[in-house]
Amino acid sequence: MPYLPHTNRYQNMQYRRCGRSGLKLPAISLGLWHNFGHVDVLENSRSILHLAFDAGITHFDLANNYGPPPGSAEENFGRILREDFRAYRDELVISSKAGYYMWEGPYGEWGSKKYLVSSLDQSLKRMGLEYVDIFYHHRPDPETPLEETMAALDLIVRQGKALYVGISNYRKEEAEAAIRILRELGTPCLIHQPNYSMFDRWVEGGLLDLLGREGVGCIPFSPLQQGLLTDRYLKGIPPDSRAAKPHGFLKAKQITESRLQQIRRLNELAGQRGQSLAQMALAWILKDDRITSVLVGASRPEQLADSLLCLNQLDFSEQELQQIGEILE
Ligand SMILES: NC(=O)c1ccc[n+]([C@@H]2O[C@H](COP(=O)([O-])OP(=O)(O)OC[C@H]3O[C@@H](n4cnc5c(N)ncnc54)[C@H](OP(=O)(O)O)[C@@H]3O)[C@@H](O)[C@H]2O)c1
Repeated sequence: MPYLPHTNRYQNMQYRRCGRSGLKLPAISLGLWHNFGHVDVLENSRSILHLAFDAGITHFDLANNYGPPPGSAEENFGRILREDFRAYRDELVISSKAGYYMWEGPYGEWGSKKYLVSSLDQSLKRMGLEYVDIFYHHRPDPETPLEETMAALDLIVRQGKALYVGISNYRKEEAEAAIRILRELGTPCLIHQPNYSMFDRWVEGGLLDLLGREGVGCIPFSPLQQGLLTDRYLKGIPPDSRAAKPHGFLKAKQITESRLQQIRRLNELAGQRGQSLAQMALAWILKDDRITSVLVGASRPEQLADSLLCLNQLDFSEQELQQIGEILE
């Protein structure tokens, strides 16, 4: 049976303007870092993508190195796109990135024009696309002049291989310089993709203010801290969880007793709000209107369905915020 998306897919999602651009993104976007590689079950990946699109998630985030093996998430996504989403390309915002190690030799990582241009060409081939909607520089490069990296992003847009560009993992000062250079080049920085969750609040130290002021969108990644901010680890480490998988980026040693105590208290508070912990953790990020979207992951459709319900309750009372602040201290 060919996939037919729900006809009411745009009814329940919120779409937020990305900074001062013309582009709107769904409040919840789906990332394909884990669970979409060749090590994973393709039909499960497909079901997650179907559920996402049926729920109004129009934005799928990839990178050259997602898998494992690296590149395989783009290959699998390309296949599912071809088989199920071909008719809906114009309803999708697809992003990719380059910055981390991808291939041998001096041109396979970091921020040179040589690397960025060839990496995007490879990504487009793997996904079977003529262009991506957003192309990111994945991490700052301490050696390549920022002017060269930003000029590469500008070139890629002028070549029609990406519609917009963004930066990821850039600290405040780095982001400030990148935003300025891109503006001078005539290709404004659309969006920044930083790590941000209840357990990692570094963006509150100036980056969010900068993005708000400059009219650049913000799409936090790992908003559930890779699953820590859910009920996943309340009763130990499940064998099918990220922390148990050899290729999982979350390591068992990160699940300490003091973390678990915080998770238990947060879980209780979420219950009092009538939410799952995952829903509360996402709502807590989305309460700030400088946030364009939260970039979640999921290892099965049910998790994504659960996370989506955060949209029913984004408000927090002063007392709840204070309680959360105390738990996170
Ligand atoms: N720019 C960058 O440097 C960078 C870095 C990291 C990530 N990202 C992007 O951000 C995306 C999301 O990252 P992430 O996967 O770490 O995000 P996350 O949303 O923090 O964690 C996702 C994991 O949490 C668990 N989970 C999700 N929803 C749940 C729910 N409702 N209930 C219980 N458990 C739930 C699942 O763990 P289990 O697998 O254990 O079931 C899932 O794999 C990536 O795919 C990627 O696109 C970007």
